[in-house]
Amino acid sequence: MVNQPAIYLDHAATSWPKAPGVGKVMLEMIEGQVGSSGRGNHGMALVAARKLFRTRSLLAKLFHISNPNDIVFTSNTTEALNLAIKGWLKPGDHVIATMVEHNSVRRPLEFLRRTIGIEVDYIPVSPLGEMEMGLLRSSFRSNTALVVCSHSSNLLGSIAPVRKMSQLAHEYGAVMLLDAAQTAGNYPIDVEELGVDLLAFPGHKGLLGPQGTGGLYISSKIDLVPLLHGGTGSQSEELEQPAVRPDRYEAGTANTVGIAGLGEGVKYILEQGPESIYRHEWELTQRLMVGLSEIPGLTMLGPEIGKDRTGIVSFVIADRDASEVAFLLDKDYGIAVRAGYHCTPLGHMTAGTMKGGAVRASIGYNTVVDDVDALVLAIKRITESY
Ligand code: ALA
Repeated sequence: MVNQPAIYLDHAATSWPKAPGVGKVMLEMIEGQVGSSGRGNHGMALVAARKLFRTRSLLAKLFHISNPNDIVFTSNTTEALNLAIKGWLKPGDHVIATMVEHNSVRRPLEFLRRTIGIEVDYIPVSPLGEMEMGLLRSSFRSNTALVVCSHSSNLLGSIAPVRKMSQLAHEYGAVMLLDAAQTAGNYPIDVEELGVDLLAFPGHKGLLGPQGTGGLYISSKIDLVPLLHGGTGSQSEELEQPAVRPDRYEAGTANTVGIAGLGEGVKYILEQGPESIYRHEWELTQRLMVGLSEIPGLTMLGPEIGKDRTGIVSFVIADRDASEVAFLLDKDYGIAVRAGYHCTPLGHMTAGTMKGGAVRASIGYNTVVDDVDALVLAIKRITESY
């Protein structure tokens, strides 16, 4: 293997290593069994169909979704968010989002604002990641059709008050879309309990599957305009996209190999339990924050020590360029983190880090105490000796 860091702390970008069995099943599929689901009655096509259903069923169990066919596969969270946003909104609709959204929410919204004339409000969030619920309530209008929020800010690590947001959304007749890019697999998600109507999630982060996988849960009460139109292997004589799920939203041959791999990731998460993964990551995050808090000139972003947060710890060091710090961590200490802007200019405005961005360390299911301590020591050395 080339370029493997000694210590991998970039799980918020993509998890590594993947869960046990992910690579094995993908190899088995690509070398031996990968037919096209729904496009043939032979054994290999049936294996593909079963693999897709297995992963869908495991995901349904994880997110407490009663019908696995309400989950559609996409190639990533971005595609899932585009399907939800473009498939739901109509000209004149109003959307409430927040000031920590990722560009995968903001850009589709801004595209629709320019092209079909939707209205968007981004609700302020404090630098600690807290939202003022009164402000949220007063933002609703008669034409509010959608509330969307990042479950955990990919910059601050803060966790959004989803249940309260969805309660308000439903009170005003709007739909709740949750961007679970940073929480799927590493934080408990129950769509019924949270009141989530649309859940966009990645396969390659907390679910420990391969890149090129992800999905969208679409409540059975909601009909979205499909993002893609084309062959589904079903109702082929019809001009319209089939109404039946998941076919309606899954035109084209599936990423069967990737989705089979994702199934192994989800199986592992179900065995461990997202609560215990969250707890493990939280404990290490606290240790990291305590260590970093002793470094002069270093400021951490997001919730204070002791508060709920995902495994994301972003920070800036006075008079130091974030990208240079990340470069030194990689080159001199073999520690992989992400730096600069994190596809969330709104988050950086909230945190006050528009100039230069921030260094982001993100802890994962396999991170250990030594990894965290090594990062703290490396940052101490970098701040002392350059
Ligand atoms: N959105 C991912 C991140 O925050 C890639 O790094």
